[in-house]
Amino acid sequence: MKKYSDQEIKAFGLMPERIPKHVAIVMDGNGRWATERGMPRGMGHRAGVNALRDIIRFSSDVGVESLTIYAFSTENRKRPKDEIGILCGLLIEYFNREIDELHANAVRIRSIGDLSWFPTAVQETVRAAEVKTAANPGLKLNIALNYGGRAELVRAMRLAMRESDEPDEDAISRNLYTADSGDVDLLIRTGGDERVSNFLLWQIAYAELYFTDVKWPDFTRDELIRALQAFAGRERRFGGLKSNGAK
Ligand code: FPP
Repeated sequence: MKKYSDQEIKAFGLMPERIPKHVAIVMDGNGRWATERGMPRGMGHRAGVNALRDIIRFSSDVGVESLTIYAFSTENRKRPKDEIGILCGLLIEYFNREIDELHANAVRIRSIGDLSWFPTAVQETVRAAEVKTAANPGLKLNIALNYGGRAELVRAMRLAMRESDEPDEDAISRNLYTADSGDVDLLIRTGGDERVSNFLLWQIAYAELYFTDVKWPDFTRDELIRALQAFAGRERRFGGLKSNGAK
């Protein structure tokens, strides 16, 4: 739920009228963050979960309407079993620890992707969080779990074809997991790589892309402010011309 006034938002160096409605984040670099410190990769994921807390809170407080985070891709299933086990454990721990505060802040949680692949305990924890927060009017927090953008598009296409033999763009959009969050305005990727990695392929058609070398566990509120400032400075034309007609 938006907490800050326009005045307060300006005090962060942000423009109230240029806060993106939908922010998506590829939270990369946890493993390297840990390795650099001589720690096992799992510690990086744990630090990553801790970083998430402030980012969700601040996004909600400045009035971002939807935040979609890449927690586990379909490709992540190729990781060693023990790392997958650690991630599943962290997910359960995260929901158990954070759900009350998220709920109190009116955050609405939804998972996107194929949850059925996960152990029952993960599925049950995530579903319980979705049910508990379903009616909340605040930040829409979409957590991508066993998610792939192409798979989402195939699914959307199939669903749309149940409605019509010749689905149009709106029909596809309506059948995406993120239908009620709309297109992504700002896509952030941490960890130094500059790729999209099969995330929200349809939704990012006109997104502004922000890449940073900062590894996810070090992505603090100040780093998010930097990303939001960069977004505010971009000129979005959506394929049209500048308002004064100049290109
Ligand atoms: C990328 O780091 C990160 C992931 C594969 C997982 C992201 C997951 C979390 C932050 C925690 C789980 C999420 C929730 C919602 C509790 P990497 O391992 O690919 O890092 P590397 O590129 O340095 O190896």
